[in-house]
Amino acid sequence: MLLIETRDTEEMSLRAAEQIAALLTLKRDAVLGLATGSTPIGAYAKLAQWHKENALSFRQVKTVNLDEYRGLSPQSPDSYRWFMNHHLFQHVDIDMQNTHVPNGLAEDVREECARYDALIESLHGIDLQLLGIGMNGHIGFNEPASTITLETHCVTLSENTREVNAAYFASKDAMPTEAITMGMRPILQARRVLLVAAANKRGIIEKALFGPVTPEVPASLLQLHKRLTVVLARS
Ligand code: F6R
Repeated sequence: MLLIETRDTEEMSLRAAEQIAALLTLKRDAVLGLATGSTPIGAYAKLAQWHKENALSFRQVKTVNLDEYRGLSPQSPDSYRWFMNHHLFQHVDIDMQNTHVPNGLAEDVREECARYDALIESLHGIDLQLLGIGMNGHIGFNEPASTITLETHCVTLSENTREVNAAYFASKDAMPTEAITMGMRPILQARRVLLVAAANKRGIIEKALFGPVTPEVPASLLQLHKRLTVVLARS
């Protein structure tokens, strides 16, 4: 594991974006696993800026996002599809056909989960998986549990996640109770994992990276990954 501690969140975003840009420079047709939430916003802004400055192209890049809320349409500003379009995809030269987010409106959720796993497989896996971490140690929406779920699945969001993420919605009641999330298999099989965390996540980062490996702290499973880079802001 490589642990990069940064002065602040500005530098955290820069370091994270540099890791992604370096990969895209070496492998133009990389498959990126992407995350939403507040953590990657600054890194996405940097990538968009470097694209604008003609330093970076996404023309051949393919992306698969970690998760999507159930019941939200891609047009909903609360959906993760909207988030990705707004924070990254609209600002770079990516082919939108090559961007993938689980379909939160799928009627047959099992079919949608199977489709998403098959899609990731058809892309030959993920070159770099970008991750944030929940206050409870979740990655994607793989919530603390007694067992590990390997496949893409529908999850009932934990009380903790609903409380934390309610801040992004008009009210806690407006927030979906379920989400579709990539399971642990494609995350752990990603050729590289880049875990990014602001200073308020220091406690859970320590627990995840230096505590016991357990599905009760899903991010602790990353200890098993051979090429894990963690970018953690000091303030
Ligand atoms: C988002 C995701 C989540 C977030 C985590 C941290 O796609 O999968 O695991 O990375 O909840 O969220 P923020 O960055 O908002 O603290």
